Amino acid sequence: MLPSNLNGHSPLARRRPRLSAASPPAAAGESPAAGAGATTAADSLEEHDRIYFQSYSHIGIHEAMIKDRVRTDAYHSAIMHHKKFIEGKVVLDVGCGTGILSVFCARAGAKRVYAVEASEIATQACEIVKANNLSDQVVVIHGRVEDVDLEEKVDVIISEWMGYMLLYESMLPSVLFARDKWLKPGGLILPSHATLFMAPITNPERYEGSVDFWCDVYGIDMSALVPLAKKFTSEEPSVETIGGENVISWPSVVKHINCYNFTVEEFKCITAKYKVSSMMLAPIHGFGFWFEVEFNGPQEYSHNVPSNLNPLEIIQKKRKQSSEDTVLLSTAPEDEPTHWQQTILYFPDPIEVKQDQTVEGSVTVSQSKENPRFLNIHLECSTGGHTLVNDCAMR
Ligand SMILES: C[S@@+](CC[C@H](N)C(=O)[O-])C[C@H]1O[C@@H](n2cnc3c(N)ncnc32)[C@H](O)[C@@H]1O
Repeated sequence: MLPSNLNGHSPLARRRPRLSAASPPAAAGESPAAGAGATTAADSLEEHDRIYFQSYSHIGIHEAMIKDRVRTDAYHSAIMHHKKFIEGKVVLDVGCGTGILSVFCARAGAKRVYAVEASEIATQACEIVKANNLSDQVVVIHGRVEDVDLEEKVDVIISEWMGYMLLYESMLPSVLFARDKWLKPGGLILPSHATLFMAPITNPERYEGSVDFWCDVYGIDMSALVPLAKKFTSEEPSVETIGGENVISWPSVVKHINCYNFTVEEFKCITAKYKVSSMMLAPIHGFGFWFEVEFNGPQEYSHNVPSNLNPLEIIQKKRKQSSEDTVLLSTAPEDEPTHWQQTILYFPDPIEVKQDQTVEGSVTVSQSKENPRFLNIHLECSTGGHTLVNDCAMR
């Protein structure tokens, strides 16, 4: 469940799972769906995966994702951009959900699409494939991609694996597993590259609404609740939509991921240093995080941009290039909102900064040991003699 203060902030209000809220267990006798190679037995899953996959058996999540036109159009455009490569080839859709991306690939001319889905929504994916007369091309397999057995290696892997703050849900390791086991050399991965950004943000209205609010509630001094409100606001990242006007410096790259060679080991713990300069006099209320993904072929990326640029310069350069050259899906505050919104780490107390003041420190994002689908975030921030350390968990 999303924190209640966030509900209704966006027309895409029902979103991806927040995994701390367990769904009720599947009814006994609910049968696995689908075609060849089905192996999923809910009993054999670890508890955190059982909860995770149950959350994806609800239609609301799929509705929110599919109605997110920025997301769905980007995938469709990427498939059309690579149509010549996909035609006559074999595709693996890792986590096909309702099967929408598999249907796009089949319609783009794929010879065969293995649509692998671990949650019960695989039943409906199978029916959708039949209803669209694609059963000859699309094979829906109900199972974890780690467990399924395909009849052949594939030319293309497509997957929509990005969670809040890019890394939440930890689905990328499943895509990397599929890449190492099933992708032919020279094959295509969509998306191919992902970049996580961060920047200090100011958001006085949000801070006043959550913390200062308690100082005068219908004429009652409830400021005894202020310490609790600060603790609550800063101990868990908040998923909400901010605008470009809330961001007070150029963003810093936390991680640039090349899906052609990134490893599961690297995913476990990501650390980055940052040093940015405030563009205005403002209180910093915390840091915003967002991401972009690109859909490039294995060779395209290095051909398009000089290799001496850093990832931020590369992204800026890419944005300037015509949309014919590359497909980019952005969740940045200045771009059209998506169901991912932005993820904000609020500080318990704001820090005042002047124009051109340096803000620097480090951030570490790691998979939780308690539940690998959760994230632990350690943020250090120094500016103008203040140093702040914030540890929080995204559950
Ligand atoms: C973000 S949804 C995307 C669904 C669909 N591809 C779309 O674009 O609408 C991710 C899907 O991947 C499935 N999934 C996640 N990890 C998986 C795994 N290891 N094996 C199979 N399915 C997985 C989830 O159950 C979920 O339905």
